[in-house]
Amino acid sequence: MLKRRASLALALSVMAFNGATRAEDGGILVLGATGQLGIEIVKDLVEAGEKVKVLVRPTSNRDKLAGLDVTYAVGDILSDADMEKVFTSTPYRAVIDASGQPNGGDQTYYEKSQRVISKWAAAGKVGQIILHGATGAGDSAHMMIMENVPEYQRVSIASKGKAEDILKGSGVTYTIIRHLTLLPIETKESGRARLTTNQMAVGAVTRDGLARLTMGCLHNPACFNMTFHAVDDDVTLSGRYETMWTRYRTVLKPYVFEARDTPQRMD
Ligand SMILES: NC(=O)c1ccc[n+]([C@@H]2O[C@H](COP(=O)([O-])OP(=O)(O)OC[C@H]3O[C@@H](n4cnc5c(N)ncnc54)[C@H](OP(=O)(O)O)[C@@H]3O)[C@@H](O)[C@H]2O)c1
Repeated sequence: MLKRRASLALALSVMAFNGATRAEDGGILVLGATGQLGIEIVKDLVEAGEKVKVLVRPTSNRDKLAGLDVTYAVGDILSDADMEKVFTSTPYRAVIDASGQPNGGDQTYYEKSQRVISKWAAAGKVGQIILHGATGAGDSAHMMIMENVPEYQRVSIASKGKAEDILKGSGVTYTIIRHLTLLPIETKESGRARLTTNQMAVGAVTRDGLARLTMGCLHNPACFNMTFHAVDDDVTLSGRYETMWTRYRTVLKPYVFEARDTPQRMD
């Protein structure tokens, strides 16, 4: 509760900074709102008193959104016509993109979706896009041993890198939050999940922690046109995640671990 009150205070103060008023703005649009990360973000936004619109597909299961004070836009992110309608009908203060593809889905979704989102966000004069991405994308690719990364993840990471570039080239104020391992929804953050500009920072993070960090970046000039890595160094790992660091040794270059073992180089 405390974290959510703090976020509300931040959002209100930054709104004052921007000179925006609730009456004249279209609030926050959440993409991927029916997903596991998206729902956590929506809950935090609603609790902070934000005006929230969620994008759902005609086929989306809305059960998790039931009872939340949100309005709906129906459409497919990959449909240019749908997104034109969604983005040009309302002047969103911010758009949060927590959408994603399941493992068996088209992993080039990220560049395809961002092409549509960025185009219409620019046309609709969106104030800020917060994009949830992946560690290993863009300028963090150097630290991955790509030949050891499963094919679908390799494709998805490369696509997320392209998505970052598309967003950065759009002219819309952006915040990119990369994560490496997203923990199951049942796992709660330690309270010390953090964003860092250190591109060598790797680890796991929970979806509730990511939602809190997303709230902290909303309308926050310190996050404008920035790329962060999100990690929760103190979260309790259980089940198959207990051996996560062993697996990291096969997919991350040795210098990532050297940096990790040398705290002064971390931030
Ligand atoms: N899992 C990990 O370890 C991991 C690691 C790093 C980064 N990430 C990234 O973190 C983000 C969130 O992951 P998550 O596991 O919480 O997501 P998720 O539960 O799989 O949710 C995906 C969301 O995207 C929506 N979506 C997919 N395609 C769409 C389309 N064409 N149009 C509209 N909506 C669409 C889905 O809507 P429907 O309800 O209609 O299906 C759903 O709301 C993703 O970008 C993911 O790649 C995940």
